[in-house]
Amino acid sequence: MREYGLFINGEWLLTAEKHVVANKATGQSLGAISVAGKREVTAAVDAAVHAYQTVQVEPYRRYEILMKASRLLIRDQQKLAQLLCAEVGKPMKEALAEVSRAEQTLLLSAEEAKRMTGEMVPLQGSSGCGSRWAFTLRVPVGVVCAITPFNFPLNLACHKIGPALAAGNAVIYKPATATPLSAVMLCEILAEAGLPAGYLNLVTGSGSQLGRFLTEDQRINFYSFTGSPAVGKSLAKNTGMRRVALELGSNSANIVHHDTDIKAAAEMCVRYAFANAGQVCISCQRVYVHQSVYQDFCDQAVAFAQQLKVGDPLDAATDIGPMISEQEAARAEAWVEEAVAHGAKVLTGGKRHKAWLEPTILTDVQPEMKVIRQEAFAPLFSIVPYQEISEAIALVNDSTYGLQAGVFTNSVNVVKSCAMKIAVGGVMINDGATFRTDNMPYGGIKESGLGKEGPQYTVKEMTEEKLIVFA
Ligand code: SIN
Repeated sequence: MREYGLFINGEWLLTAEKHVVANKATGQSLGAISVAGKREVTAAVDAAVHAYQTVQVEPYRRYEILMKASRLLIRDQQKLAQLLCAEVGKPMKEALAEVSRAEQTLLLSAEEAKRMTGEMVPLQGSSGCGSRWAFTLRVPVGVVCAITPFNFPLNLACHKIGPALAAGNAVIYKPATATPLSAVMLCEILAEAGLPAGYLNLVTGSGSQLGRFLTEDQRINFYSFTGSPAVGKSLAKNTGMRRVALELGSNSANIVHHDTDIKAAAEMCVRYAFANAGQVCISCQRVYVHQSVYQDFCDQAVAFAQQLKVGDPLDAATDIGPMISEQEAARAEAWVEEAVAHGAKVLTGGKRHKAWLEPTILTDVQPEMKVIRQEAFAPLFSIVPYQEISEAIALVNDSTYGLQAGVFTNSVNVVKSCAMKIAVGGVMINDGATFRTDNMPYGGIKESGLGKEGPQYTVKEMTEEKLIVFA
């Protein structure tokens, strides 16, 4: 079995304890990755601090390194996509798309390395400031810890590591336990692109144990985390005055008003609900449809869902692969069964075959059911009718989450109400909540988290604004 190491100070290091990484479709082993303990985490932070304090990498050099890494991602696109298919269970077309997105994310990050500007501060406008002049600089925070999820292991890692490096920080990278092999490839690529030793250090192993070691090390200045609200909250609590960026998911909602193209809206909601087997923080989970077009929408959505091909992620025609584990698929299936036991109807799907949950559409759901109230992170969504737009907005807002929402309508007044009144980080008009491009500000409110991703915004988060005053 192939063994993979930790990446510390530019060297690969094998440890005695290993974690076997499974192919999520076949269950076969893809290799064994080293498990880091306290000693290795300390060594990784030592290396990051040393690199940050002693090896100066000028902004233009950071730009060159990130540009080169983005090109290397495309050189290795097929290999990376095969790996994402295997370690996530993601269909091939989505895996290829993720690599292309990761290329863009590094490219956008590279550009930011050249734009680290502060601003002039007009001190002379203040009484008693005499002829003083002042400006601000953006300076790196120091050592950034990037903790990444399993659903987009490559692109979401690039969203943290790309801007961190562009800003001049050194990084400790802790990928999800289920998907560490794309992380190994990303480290190889950044090293080949010329990143000096110590600027990127990979630690893998058990999430909870590593999380504890990482938060205990006071030399880490910033934590960027994507994952569950429970872990995000505990990270915020345990890191004290140090800064965090948290992207914690949602139970995203869409509104379909009566004045829109129902067929197009249904197709989009279906595509967005089942992409990556629903394991997307902005997956379409709740759809509120005007009563007058409700039946039409349900029929169209079921017809589209039934055309999707469920199967082997390596098959280019597959739309829906397995979930990350059989256990997670069983959890989602149990949520569907619980909803049905309390009166929900399954329009299509609902059954599980090992880690594959059929694309599932529910109706007659109640607000307190888990499929509505909690983040499903599975290929399922519910359709709920409404009478008035104010009622639909209240239903969307009846959530502890607030990441993104979608609204399908041709009415300017509906657009204005939704844009102003829906409590989320981003409202998509005539597109679903699931829309994301890598240069937009992405991040939520309420339990969906803190801070915005998108290289331009992340660079701001991962730098300090430092004031310089000349007397
Ligand atoms: C996420 O699941 O948080 C990311 C979604 C995306 O990047 O498309």
